[in-house]
Amino acid sequence: MSCADRTGPLLATLAASKPGGRILELGTGAGAGAAWLTAGMDAATRLTTVEVDASVQSIARRHLGEDPRIEFVTADADTWLTGARGPYDFAYVDCRPGKYLRLDDLLALLAPGARYAVDDMLPQATWPEDHQPRVDGFLEQLPEVPNFRATHIRWASGLVVAARL
Ligand SMILES: C[S@@+](CC[C@H](N)C(=O)[O-])C[C@H]1O[C@@H](n2cnc3c(N)ncnc32)[C@H](O)[C@@H]1O
Repeated sequence: MSCADRTGPLLATLAASKPGGRILELGTGAGAGAAWLTAGMDAATRLTTVEVDASVQSIARRHLGEDPRIEFVTADADTWLTGARGPYDFAYVDCRPGKYLRLDDLLALLAPGARYAVDDMLPQATWPEDHQPRVDGFLEQLPEVPNFRATHIRWASGLVVAARL
């Protein structure tokens, strides 16, 4: 379930737009997204990446664990969000908390001008039957989210790229 090949360079570009910043990824997976994020980060930028499945995250730790810019957190992002401290300058959210759940709590962690990105907004063969309404509801609410400027991009797996006002 790694990010799409075309999405990776966009993640690197967004990370590069925040030199010296704090970047957050929810859903490390096997680390493909984290690898792209770190490719765009300068030496002073820090990435916190959160994953509930320790065995999956161990792949990312094995390949990226020597990069001192990365903090790996093994936790449910829903629990992690409760104690999290911002501000973050860019959040790439790749699991339900921070996207379909607790969007307000995630956005409260973002600095003014921070970027927010999610993918998998276009129908995927792997989706369960009940997932399309979840995506539709997420996209429909975006124009009403306060202090948030979001664009739905129908490209790669489907993205939302946004800025916190
Ligand atoms: C799409 S994959 C992540 C891919 C990765 N971000 C990338 O770009 O290569 C989603 C990941 O989120 C993790 N996940 C699902 N629910 C989670 C939760 N509540 N908290 C943290 N991680 C979660 C899954 O175990 C899975 O590894």
